[in-house]
Amino acid sequence: MKTTIHINPRRKIGDLSPLVFGSFIENLQDCIYGGVYDPASPASDEEGFRADVMAAARAMGVSMVRFPGGCFAPYYHWRDGVGPKESRPLTRYGAANFNGQCMGWPELNTFGTNELISWCRKVGAEPYICVNMGSGSPEEARDWVEYCNHEKGSRWADLRVAHGYSEPHRVTWWALGNEISGPWEFGHAENASDYIRRAREYARAMKQADPNIKLVFCGNHFPLMRENRDWNREVLEKLYEYVDAISMHHYIGLMAKGNCVGQWKDMEPGKLLAHLSEYMMEIDDAYRVMRGEIRFVSHLQPHRKPIGVALDEYGPWYKSFGEAKLSESYTMIDALQMAAYFNAFIRHADIALVSNHAQLVNVLAALLAEEGTARFARQTISYVQEMYLENRGGAAVDTWVDGESFPGKFYPQVAWVDASATIHPNHIVVNLINRDPVRPVECELSLPGMNFKLKSGKILHHQDLTAANTLDRPECVIPHSVEGEKILLPPGSLGVYTLKTHE
Ligand code: AHR
Repeated sequence: MKTTIHINPRRKIGDLSPLVFGSFIENLQDCIYGGVYDPASPASDEEGFRADVMAAARAMGVSMVRFPGGCFAPYYHWRDGVGPKESRPLTRYGAANFNGQCMGWPELNTFGTNELISWCRKVGAEPYICVNMGSGSPEEARDWVEYCNHEKGSRWADLRVAHGYSEPHRVTWWALGNEISGPWEFGHAENASDYIRRAREYARAMKQADPNIKLVFCGNHFPLMRENRDWNREVLEKLYEYVDAISMHHYIGLMAKGNCVGQWKDMEPGKLLAHLSEYMMEIDDAYRVMRGEIRFVSHLQPHRKPIGVALDEYGPWYKSFGEAKLSESYTMIDALQMAAYFNAFIRHADIALVSNHAQLVNVLAALLAEEGTARFARQTISYVQEMYLENRGGAAVDTWVDGESFPGKFYPQVAWVDASATIHPNHIVVNLINRDPVRPVECELSLPGMNFKLKSGKILHHQDLTAANTLDRPECVIPHSVEGEKILLPPGSLGVYTLKTHE
């Protein structure tokens, strides 16, 4: 199959936000305790942090880490997780997420705010804290900001200093609640007005502690929902002065259309790949709708300001849904869906401000770390994030795929090849996914007004679409370098290419 990728280097969409390389850690099963933090593991450092997990997070360029939840956030009291570890309480919340999964139990509180900051500094990531809008209060959230960001000379800042952190943590990003429009969420808001009223109190209190923080408000939990369809617009309009970003969550398997988790598990791999490729078109629509809502509301304002979208939970979740353990073994097929997310972040770079893959380790995870041992593996999807780091620092440019497509169930045309590109001072990066399970594709590039030479390329491919990395076989699917003048993508593969450019 032959396909032409038209790239318009002069039509810039926006600078790619460094924060789209974010991740998420939550006290859910063995993500934090036994994954990020595991003093009993021989692979852990002096603070009890798994060194292999941190090394992989650095390799993936994890730029931001969301904490403590998720559905756990509305149960979490930050004061339980600071100060001498021996005096921190063991708390039993027994909360449940929408899947009925038990959250945050047991909460040992040995990984709290200061551990998060220390972990983030070691990895080179920004902390992103979600405050408790369930059992918490605006005052508790305000005090958390003060603890983190005040220099000294106030009650909570002085407590931080007493805990051994003389410098403020300077946490910029804060989320006001999680999935609060979802009836499963502790602290659920019946409607947008209910959320707006409460969130305003939180925003005021938190900004009083530090006016420079950036606030992410809860959008309607999943985009393109029938329920609460005016939620986002109302939140944006009524809280405009406080909003830096509005959130959405997107799990492949849990969206409005084609939500048929059980059937997917047993689908023939080629069919599944095609099916998921269509499914991923929803994420583009979600960004389009969000952009429209942000623009509409901005037009009503006397003073406009940039507002972004925080996709602060995303990833494939269609194998372990409804099961006791949220462990997904990510195959080559899933790696291509992860790549589709990154293509969407690039295509929507004008509004895709923050993205946090859910989650970093052991739970719906990019990484696998066996508790108490040094066994470790990187799942296929973690390599995808690493490959897309080539785009870091660039500006997204318009791409158009002129090639074959297939008819989907909801979308009349699903292209076999999905593409995105970023421009940099002396080069262009092109990201190409071949979603055809049997045919290789030769891609020709068209860049009007620009001379270019293919410099290097990396491919992620395995002839078995169901191949995955496991603790026993950690390097089954890994990227490899390719050379040559031609772009030839094997069936079911991802290619990231760097082109040297001169006008
Ligand atoms: O990431 C797992 C859970 O899924 C999170 O706790 C929740 O926010 C989401 O529904």
